[in-house]
Amino acid sequence: MADYLWWKHGIIYQIYPRSFQDSDGDGIGDLQGVIDRLDYLNDGTGRSLGIDAIWFSPTYPSPMADFGYDVSDYEGVHPDFGDLATMDRLIAEAHKRGIRIILDFVPNHTSSQHPWFLESRSSVDAPKRDWYVWRDPKPEGSPPNNWIGAFGGPAWEWDQKTQQYYLHSFLVEQPDLNWRNPEVVRAMHGVLRFWMKRGIDGFRIDVMDRIVKDPQLRDNPPQPDRRWAELIGQTALQEHKYDQNWPEILDAVREIRTVVDEFPERMTVGEVFGTPENIVRYYGGARLDGLHLAFNFALARVWDRRWTAEHIRRKVDEFEAALPPGAWPNYVFGNHDVDRLATRLAGGAIGQARARVAALLLLTLRGTPFVYYGEEIGMENVDIPEDRLRDPARRYGRGRDPERTPMQWTRHGGFTAGGPWLPYGDLKDNVEDQSAQPRSLLSLYRRLVWCRRRSDALRFGDYAPVDGTPAGIYAYTRSHGDERLLAALNFTDDAVTFDLPASLHVRECVLGTHEATFAGQTIALAPNEGRLLRLG
Ligand code: GLC
Ligand code: MG
Repeated sequence: MADYLWWKHGIIYQIYPRSFQDSDGDGIGDLQGVIDRLDYLNDGTGRSLGIDAIWFSPTYPSPMADFGYDVSDYEGVHPDFGDLATMDRLIAEAHKRGIRIILDFVPNHTSSQHPWFLESRSSVDAPKRDWYVWRDPKPEGSPPNNWIGAFGGPAWEWDQKTQQYYLHSFLVEQPDLNWRNPEVVRAMHGVLRFWMKRGIDGFRIDVMDRIVKDPQLRDNPPQPDRRWAELIGQTALQEHKYDQNWPEILDAVREIRTVVDEFPERMTVGEVFGTPENIVRYYGGARLDGLHLAFNFALARVWDRRWTAEHIRRKVDEFEAALPPGAWPNYVFGNHDVDRLATRLAGGAIGQARARVAALLLLTLRGTPFVYYGEEIGMENVDIPEDRLRDPARRYGRGRDPERTPMQWTRHGGFTAGGPWLPYGDLKDNVEDQSAQPRSLLSLYRRLVWCRRRSDALRFGDYAPVDGTPAGIYAYTRSHGDERLLAALNFTDDAVTFDLPASLHVRECVLGTHEATFAGQTIALAPNEGRLLRLG
């Protein structure tokens, strides 16, 4: 295919570097560990997972207040993970296997230990004072406005020495950069070039939707629906009208795109939140000169009660409808900030059965699939004893440790020779055992991925939902040229039988979550069964 683009037609796998594979026994995952596991990810055969790219959560030097999302040097590697030479070897080894590498780019804030901030806070006249957002207190001494940080609490911190507040949209240890200062923009563009010259293929852009704020820093209006605050904390008590999705962000995005386009075949995917209409704005409108992909988190917000054919279809169709012409969708079921998919889908046997349907969905929809490490073996949230919790965000609301636990390689762990930084979960679902079981989730994943890799219809064909299916069934076709496939998914815990119209003539069953191979116009799906059929 002439316009083959890896980030469009490939599968992107997210690695939380602390938790994937430790190579030196310190209990913390590292880049050498990832190199040692590359064949698991893609060795060119159906024995491997067959992914096309890895996105790494931050690997930079950092005091680890927010486990790497507080960067103290954008052009280095944290010693826990290795050094620049290890990163260079990782890039080379990955590229040998056709795997691209995406780094996490954190433009909204640095660490409070970054030399830029140390200089900025040294005096009101420091040359880098304006690299961050400093403001005088209100006359009575309070913060310049009412903004609440994403983790809760005021987004402003008082600096005793220079008698001003600085803005931090996340932790106190994460001061916001001032993207209205051209020197900041130049420095951050330099970071992108630094990594692209080393062979990095793309960037996941952290907190893209907050990098530029209202120039007047006006107060956010209250958000009266209190239910959201229960779920995501205090930050939901206000409408983020002036500190999130500010229109000028799109100018900054377009400039980033121009820099990224200086190098061939590079990509960006941005973390943005809101309605589908808001999210797709970041693709840059008709000219598509913004982000290559803007994360579509609709399916990452699905849990038990929302796991219905009707809800999922609505979410897919809404995103498809919102996209500007030529823009490419994407789907995400999990990441390092949300509960594990199998857990959200009720956990246990039901969660595992639904995870199989989710895999079939993710790998047959039109759009780039993002897979969070461990999702392919159905990893669940791990119950972590209080004294081993590490995520600072837990102080303000929900901690994220349960979805960040070590990859479960074997019955004994296999992640480290030492003591893992977070406890393992129940190791009965592990890579080694699932590799040997033809009916495991991992085996289903591998079959699905390799089927997708061979199918033009699945990689870039059209998507069309099928109307008139019974309640609880979501079915859609994917077509390209002569190739026409139908996915039929039963989201209920009951068996459902229905007839397909003659216009959807079934030739054969390609694969499915269950053993069934029967293919005819009458589709009988077991509870939580999904099937991929070839039409002709
Ligand atoms: C993003 C990251 C999250 C981090 C935050 C601050 O939301 O995904 O893990 O804590 O940004 O950088
Ligand atoms: Mg290590």
